[in-house]
Amino acid sequence: MKLFLDTANLEEIEKGLQQEILAGITTNPALIAKEPKSDYLAHIKKITELCKKYNQEIPLSMEVFQTEPEAMVRQAKEFISEINYSNLNIKIPIGWQELRVIKELRKSNIRVNCTCAFDEAQAILAANAGANYFSFFCCRMKDAGINPFPVIKNTRQLLEGTNTEIIIGSIRHMEDVVNSFLAGAHIVTAPLNVLEKMAAHPKTTESVNKFLDDFKQWIGK
Ligand code: E4P
Repeated sequence: MKLFLDTANLEEIEKGLQQEILAGITTNPALIAKEPKSDYLAHIKKITELCKKYNQEIPLSMEVFQTEPEAMVRQAKEFISEINYSNLNIKIPIGWQELRVIKELRKSNIRVNCTCAFDEAQAILAANAGANYFSFFCCRMKDAGINPFPVIKNTRQLLEGTNTEIIIGSIRHMEDVVNSFLAGAHIVTAPLNVLEKMAAHPKTTESVNKFLDDFKQWIGK
C-alpha cells in the first residue's frame, strides 16, 4: 500500500518529501507542461536534486515523448545517462510496438513504468514484456464509462506471481485512493491536494477542539 505523488511541481514535491510518507513520484508530459517553460531534462534534474536533498531517492517516473520504437529506446537511454539518479523509471505508453521498447529497455536493466492503461488485457502484455510498473488511469477510466475497481481487482489477480506492480493514477478524489487500494492496487499516485484532504475529517477537527477546550478549563487558562 504505497503512496506516490503525481506532479511535476517543485514546490509540491518539496512539501511531499518533507512529510516523509512518499514511496515515489510520477510525472507525465501534461504535468510538465503545467510548469514554467524550461528544459525537460533540467526540470527533472531539479526533482532528483530535491529527492537527494531530503535523502529520499525514491522511484521517479518520467515519460518519453518520441513515438517510434527505436527513437523511444534511444531517448529513454539518453534520459538515464543524462539524469544521474539511481531510481529513474521510464514511462512507456502501452501499445503493440511499445512492448518491444519495454523489452529492450528491461534487457538494458532500465526500469519501466508502462502507462496510459485502461484494461486487463494490456496488463497481461506489459507484465510479459517485463514492465516494473503498470499504470491505470482511474478517473479517465470513469470518464470513459469504465468502472476501474473490478478492472484493478482482476489485474491484481492476473499479475500475482509476476514482478509488475500496479499503479493507479488519474486520481481526483480521496475515495479513489481508498477504493483503488481495496481493489488491490500496489501503489496509488495522487496529487498533493488529494493526499492533504485524506488527513482531514470534520469530526476530527471537532474532537480535537473539544479536547483542547476541556483541557483549557481544567488547567484554568
Ligand atoms: C499517472 O502516472 C499519470 O501521471 C496521471 O495520473 C494521469 O492522470 P490525469 O492526467 O488524468 O490526472
